[in-house]
Amino acid sequence: MSGNEQRYINEAFESNYIAPVGPQVELFEKEFAVKTGISYAVALSSGTAAMHLALCELGVVAGDEVFASTLTFIGSVSPVTFLGAIPVFFDADYKTWNMDPGLLAKEINACAERGRLPKAVIPTDLYGQCADLDRILEICTPYEIPVIVDAAEALGATYKGRGAGVGARAAVFSFNGNKIITTSGGGMLASEDKEFIAQARFLSQQARDAAPHFEHSQIGFNYRMSNILAAIGRGQLHVLDERVRVKRQVFTKYKAALQDIDGIEFMPEAPFGKSNRWLTVILISPEQFGTDQEKVRVALEAENIEARPL
Ligand SMILES: Cc1ncc(COP(=O)(O)O)c(C=O)c1O
Repeated sequence: MSGNEQRYINEAFESNYIAPVGPQVELFEKEFAVKTGISYAVALSSGTAAMHLALCELGVVAGDEVFASTLTFIGSVSPVTFLGAIPVFFDADYKTWNMDPGLLAKEINACAERGRLPKAVIPTDLYGQCADLDRILEICTPYEIPVIVDAAEALGATYKGRGAGVGARAAVFSFNGNKIITTSGGGMLASEDKEFIAQARFLSQQARDAAPHFEHSQIGFNYRMSNILAAIGRGQLHVLDERVRVKRQVFTKYKAALQDIDGIEFMPEAPFGKSNRWLTVILISPEQFGTDQEKVRVALEAENIEARPL
């Protein structure tokens, strides 16, 4: 935490909105939209919830295919299965470690020939590095296939000078405890489409109709962010740039120390963007390095340094 959060939490208590609604939620959404450069945003209980709502709105139903990155976290794709749809995984491009646009183009062309297109494409911005969104949009737009960017790990990263997720049909962000900024748990769905976000907000609040009594003509979810957590998020937004700076510094430090060792390669940074370096990641070639990644992990654990295989 940065110190600002407590001030906003106090404001939340003073307003007595201890609920998944209130002034902090509205302000967090507005400030987030300004920070990311995506015009509309709805604050939710998790990034997974944000992806679920986005897919619901795109009309994904049982049996549909949704294309996703194979190198990702389960929260990208578990919502595909909530809807009974089928996730189809695309391998990573060696230059970015993100969805390989060449493989995507090939498969979409094959899909068009078969007459069965995917309902959506979900590239992940892995470990804080943006996927090649313009290439992916070029492939998907002629077929009107919506692209939902899973930018859960990439807040503060840029792609061709614009923020992660800008230009997609919608983008998903996470404020889980392990993310670059956190609300303990939480997420955001953001889009240039005002109606898309308004509908997501409606669905996230149990799809309650505009009536004085409780009436629901469709099924929604209980996915809205708490006013208290939004207060934390507002405080955290102030330190996003600083967090990115420090994360990049951590990466630079490891790289300076280890780059000359045979058998170690660092996750590359694509020329089109600036990664937030949410995680520092290396590739180990055991033959050259002399031992495998599991032995490295165990040795680090003995020093109380957390590491894990990807
Ligand atoms: C790539 C990716 N997608 C989705 C999620 C899901 O976000 P959440 O944990 O807020 O549900 C996460 C993080 O947890 C993530 O890293």
